[in-house]
Amino acid sequence: MEVIDVLREVSKKIYENVKDLAGTEDAAGDFGRGAGGDISRNIDIIAEKTVLDYLKEINFECIVLGEECGRVELSENPKGFVIMDAIDGSANSVRGVPFFCSSLAFATHDKLSSITDGVITNLSSGEMYWASKDKGAFLDETKIQVHNKDPIYKIVGINTSGATPELMKKLHPIFQQHNHTRHFGANALEMAMFARGLMDIFIDLRKKIRIQDIAAGYLIVKEAGGILLDENFESLDADLSYETRVSFIAAANQRILNDIFSEIKK
Ligand code: IPD
Ligand code: CA
Repeated sequence: MEVIDVLREVSKKIYENVKDLAGTEDAAGDFGRGAGGDISRNIDIIAEKTVLDYLKEINFECIVLGEECGRVELSENPKGFVIMDAIDGSANSVRGVPFFCSSLAFATHDKLSSITDGVITNLSSGEMYWASKDKGAFLDETKIQVHNKDPIYKIVGINTSGATPELMKKLHPIFQQHNHTRHFGANALEMAMFARGLMDIFIDLRKKIRIQDIAAGYLIVKEAGGILLDENFESLDADLSYETRVSFIAAANQRILNDIFSEIKK
């Protein structure tokens, strides 16, 4: 079985196991702090267990880097890392806001740039975004690309959750321009929607996002033709450690990047 098929299969299983749980009291059960630093909810635990059980069942030789479970070595001869955010958008999933997903990626080394496969599944609809390196990005069976025409409405995704007053001040020109700013609360799904062309740019400059939240999106955005940069406008890369936090800008093209950031730099 190809790595991408393993990730797609287990992603489907997560969807089956949690689709009726979101928004229920049972989803919220508190399991203490996970490896990523947030409270692990019952829905997070059920989703992660689905992945761990399946990888064990098929003897997939890897090291899992899960947001809740931490580093789990499933083999002494691992082929690489499965970077798992089994539920991204946990707050939405617990409240029943229909915007949350699972994010699974496979990396051969301790670097984002070594990711070869990524899958993001919208757990409200079952829609699956996926990519393998150099093979393009897909939504279910349809190839996707970032939005490369001049948009009728310019949609600017900005993650402002927990942003400092300094960052809000810096970002203020973006809100002031004639942009339609959006923030939905599940980073991976927002990256997937950007890759599909539903947003023109997606910005997260909070220096808070974990590797688990961006790993699959990293590859899907690149394979869909997006520009992916760090806060210094350098190509985004990072190691896979639990301490790493990044900022990033995903832009459909240089035009929109210049357009948005020329205002900020003034
Ligand atoms: C969160 C979401 C959210 C982002 C947070 C993340 P989680 O992931 O991606 O959009 O603002 O920084 O922690 O905790 O729901 O997996
Ligand atoms: Ca999570």
